[in-house]
Order: sequence, then C-alpha cells, then structure tokens
Amino acid sequence: MAVRQRTEIASDCLWRTSRILCNGLFLSGCHSFFFVCFLFSPAGLKQIHALSIQGNYELRIDLEDFENSTAYAHYGTFGVGLFSVDPDDDGYPLTVGDYSGNAGDSLLKHNGMKFTTKDRDNDHSENNCASFYHGAWWYRNCHTSNLNGQYLRGQHTSYADGIEWSSWTGWQYSLKFSEMKIRPTRDPDNK
Ligand SMILES: *[C@@H]1O[C@H](CO)[C@@H](O)[C@H](O)[C@H]1NC(C)=O
Repeated sequence: MAVRQRTEIASDCLWRTSRILCNGLFLSGCHSFFFVCFLFSPAGLKQIHALSIQGNYELRIDLEDFENSTAYAHYGTFGVGLFSVDPDDDGYPLTVGDYSGNAGDSLLKHNGMKFTTKDRDNDHSENNCASFYHGAWWYRNCHTSNLNGQYLRGQHTSYADGIEWSSWTGWQYSLKFSEMKIRPTRDPDNK
C-alpha cells in the first residue's frame, strides 16, 4: 500500500523512479531526466515552485486501483506559481496543460487554481474544499481529482473525500496508489 505523494514515503518513490538522487529530492540545478516526486507540504510546494520556474516541466501521474489495474495521466506542461511574485502569498497556483494518457484528464479543470489546505482557503467555494473533502489540493469549486484525500480503500459511501481521480474511477472510489512525478521536458533542439 502506498500513497506516494505523502511526504513520509516520498523518498521511497524517488528510489523507485530515479537512479540519480542529485543530493536530495528537489535539488535545483539537477539536470537529470528522471522524475522526482512531489511533496505536498508547504516546503514541498516551495521547492516544486523553485524547480518548475527553472525550465519547462512535465507531470506524470500514475494510479492503481484495488484490482491492480493501472492508469496514467501525463501533462506536457506543469508548474507551480510560475507567474507569482510571491508564490507562497499567492497560494502556489497550478499550471497544467497538454494532457495525454489513459486515466482521463481530471486535472485541467484545476489549472490556475491555488492550493487550498484546511488552514488556507484559496478555493472558489463558499466552504473550504480541503476541509469538506479531507484533502489538500488546487481546488476550484471543488474538484475533479483529490489525490491527497483520505485512504478509504476502494468503494466508499461518502462523496469525493477519498483519493479520487474522477475520470477513471468516479467520486466514490479511493485509489490504492497514486504517484505524481515531474521532470524537465526534453528540449527538442537538444536531443
Ligand atoms: C494484486 O496484486 C497483489 C500483489 O501482487 C496480489 O497479492 C493480489 O492478489 C492482486 N489482486 C488482484 C485482485 O488481482
């Protein structure tokens, strides 16, 4: 069992997906083409921001359900706080684009949204989406995906408060596994 974007196991994720550690999770100036994993703590978002402003980044999301079926979503464009003067103050707005994959796109609707946590309400809802759906995410009003939701182990009767990727498994199925990874986009002129 693994919810990869959670901080406590992010190092395992890195180990699995990367053979070059580059001195740590989010070292700036690391030019390897390996994915690094996400940390969703404020410090993690800060580091992702610092990374993603260095160049063009892509995002890959891998998902698995309790039948061991897997699916992925790839976004050829990714960034956090790309246009922010003070990204922390600005709520680390998400930039995603260029979807491909077989999980369906459940993130583009979050494009441009700020990161909402229980104590920082940056969403477009009257409620705090993070409190309401027990996650922390770039909520709009509120979500089509909730990968930091609760680990509810598959089908659940509550609504949209698990680890949901709605275009693949709807709003009442909490996934067994999810992993978000970013890496620099290959420069087509520099193969
Ligand atoms: C899923 O994979 C695990 C580990 O390989 C295995 O033990 C389990 O039986 C599989 N479950 C299904 C539904 O195939």
